[in-house]
Amino acid sequence: MAYDRELAFIYLNPAKIIYGENTVNDVGIEVGELGCSKAFVITDPGVVEAGLTERVVKALGGKHAGTYDEVVQDSGHHIINQAAEAVRKSGADCLVSIGGGSVIDTAKAVSILLKSGGQIGDYTGFQMLSKPQAPHVAIPTTSGTGSEVTNCAVIKDWDRNQKQLLGSDYIIPNTAILDPTLTTGLPPMLTATTGMDAMSHAVEAIHTMNHEPIMDALGLHAVGLIMENLPKCVEDGSDLVARGQQLIASTIAGMAFGGSKVGLAHAIAHSLGGLFEVPHGLANSIILPHVIMFNLDECADIYAMIARAMGTDTKGLSDMEAGEAAGNALWDLTKKLGIPQKLSEAGVPEDGLEAVADMSMSDGAIVYNPKIVMDSADILDILKKAY
Ligand SMILES: [Fe+2]
Repeated sequence: MAYDRELAFIYLNPAKIIYGENTVNDVGIEVGELGCSKAFVITDPGVVEAGLTERVVKALGGKHAGTYDEVVQDSGHHIINQAAEAVRKSGADCLVSIGGGSVIDTAKAVSILLKSGGQIGDYTGFQMLSKPQAPHVAIPTTSGTGSEVTNCAVIKDWDRNQKQLLGSDYIIPNTAILDPTLTTGLPPMLTATTGMDAMSHAVEAIHTMNHEPIMDALGLHAVGLIMENLPKCVEDGSDLVARGQQLIASTIAGMAFGGSKVGLAHAIAHSLGGLFEVPHGLANSIILPHVIMFNLDECADIYAMIARAMGTDTKGLSDMEAGEAAGNALWDLTKKLGIPQKLSEAGVPEDGLEAVADMSMSDGAIVYNPKIVMDSADILDILKKAY
């Protein structure tokens, strides 16, 4: 495919990726590989209840220095401060996060406070760090965020009900352990919505202004893997082959968007999460096809390519028709997965749409969208269609 700008890029992903069933048992070895001997575990109550934290603690053995298990969805500054304090008191020399995106992102934020000090609000934005942060082994238990390999963390400013972005190459975890046995207990709806977050990363990585061949390759392969495996994971959570493929898709979609960033779907999803606590995967799942239709006249060739990666037969179709088919394929997919397709089914009040549109205009992701968003009225129009 052609790139309609002079192509120049840097691709960086220093995370060591370990994949395989029961690889969580090697976490102690990996802590040692980082030159560390005392690991502090960061997790949340759901992961503890599922018995997954115990597997990590057991595998760490004598290297376990303590556990903070009170991370919540959309972690705020107070949680990050509490966790950092607990790590300092323990004397640990590295972090092991086990959980979904909020847990891994919290650990990234804690790694900053441990090494660089100050308040986490001092580091919001891009490339605010100039040195490696505290060593971090990330172990995902969902297959959606890709946070185990990305250079960003989303945290929430609870006072302003706004999501904030920490973006720096120095917060990419040192090691990612991908163990599909940790994901089999995830309930069908959470599997579906977090899986659609991964789909959104893959699609947005390919359509942003920054996309380049390496990220396109990663994103397109992730799209194909998700189309094939996410329905199988939802249908039978114990299908380890499908769970494994979905987990890999989530990670490589993370590797894709870590470089090329995300676009308008994420800008809107962040605002829906900040204002009305719509879970991130659900928000993206509802919004993404509408964003494809909005962007279509700007980059139909890209969506045609995505449609082909989805397995859609585009023979004889124009790029516009094939691109539209990509959006329709997403609606078919979410219908099959049983995910709500309307914002009205996601707890969003109709009179709140304007505030969502306004907040999305100031979200960092909007600047990477392939079609320039001139006015919040464009976003309001998308939101009304999605309502
Ligand atoms: Fe996301």
